[in-house]
Amino acid sequence: MSPTSVLTKQIAAEVRARFGTPCYVYARSALEAAARQALAFPAPFGFTLRYAMKANPDRGVLAVFRDLGLHIDASSDNEVTRALRAGFPPETIQLTSQMPSRCLAEHVAQGVIFNACSLHQLDQFGRVARGGEVCVRLNPGLGSGSANRTNTGGPASSFGIWHEYLEDVKTLAERHDLRITRLHTHIGSGSDPEVWKRVTRMTLDLVAKLPDVRRVNLGGGFKVGRMPGEPSVDFADIGAHVRDELVAFRDRDGRSLELELEPGTYLVANAGFVVATCVDVVDTGRDGYLFAKLDTGMTEVTRPSLYGAQHPIDVLADGRDEVDVVFVGPCCESGDILTPAPGDPEALGPRRVARPAIDDLVVIGGAGAYCAAMSTINYNTYPQAPEVMLEPDGTLRLLRRREMLEEIWRNEV
Ligand code: LLP
Repeated sequence: MSPTSVLTKQIAAEVRARFGTPCYVYARSALEAAARQALAFPAPFGFTLRYAMKANPDRGVLAVFRDLGLHIDASSDNEVTRALRAGFPPETIQLTSQMPSRCLAEHVAQGVIFNACSLHQLDQFGRVARGGEVCVRLNPGLGSGSANRTNTGGPASSFGIWHEYLEDVKTLAERHDLRITRLHTHIGSGSDPEVWKRVTRMTLDLVAKLPDVRRVNLGGGFKVGRMPGEPSVDFADIGAHVRDELVAFRDRDGRSLELELEPGTYLVANAGFVVATCVDVVDTGRDGYLFAKLDTGMTEVTRPSLYGAQHPIDVLADGRDEVDVVFVGPCCESGDILTPAPGDPEALGPRRVARPAIDDLVVIGGAGAYCAAMSTINYNTYPQAPEVMLEPDGTLRLLRRREMLEEIWRNEV
């Protein structure tokens, strides 16, 4: 998807004039459209859509989803607090964390849903909430992600309780008089839809062994195409598959399971942009490369240098010839590349774009998910970039201002 199909040159220029660059911009209409699409998932026995808020925890983004009735998957105690602050009722928030909770008793008292991600976490919950209900995250034995680093299932992943330890889960639950009423799996981000579909069945086979389970959460991970022509998951295909699986499960087991999904990327990725400025243009000779240096890079969009992820980049200039350009960021580090070769953060992947010049506006797309949330804040002492909401009537509303220099060393003693 070309970024300028949503974020026009005129809007990008207004962003730069009012907020400076680099600046994140989120299009409310695109956030709402993605949420509505996901809400239409054809679950036969009830459906809850959770937003995996780690993808983009800005309060302005959370408010959009809160108003559409979405629930939350939080990845830390602090994210629970952030969701509460954004107005989500506690019972709509689920905590799924690698970290054992440091305020579990408080969460339980409030009604936050706890997703036990290890035997230790289940034991911890049992001590705090004897006789209660709990969700358990299992590693079903198979995973799939856009890269190994985003695969969270199978033997090479530490996420969730390994599926062969189901008897230990039951013993622990009995010891604390717990009822396991929910089962959760999340096998990776940018998953292969065919693997994801296969895991649906594997998850239901695990539900069959846990008689109190009434809700199954199949996680998120839906692949979103950010580049022009790159396919996104076919929700209708996945939906039909899951619906058939749930109906077949009801027919053989008797239980009509409520379904939960918790996408992050799908809801926000293509609704977000970074508006940047080209600050320099250099090359390495006839057999080398042409580099456009931007005032944004791994500082705001870390995914390319981390995973070799591909984000669309438009140079907003008319009437220029097209050339192959490597886009790099402002950090003193050769790994600060916005255009690595696909899937290979070590190699360069030049892009055919309008010949860039100093001061050009440049827009990076696909930047709504895991960009602001995962930025290398303050590396090279660059301040955290502002975030802005593009409202459907074209107005720009500041969500978070640019960090001030003094805030960077505020906590130094
Ligand atoms: N549920 C759980 C328990 C998760 O850990 C995650 C993502 C999600 C849901 C949402 O997954 P999504 O729909 O966004 O794929 N930083 C990487 C992705 C890592 C996501 C970690 N967990 C990226 O930039 O693609």
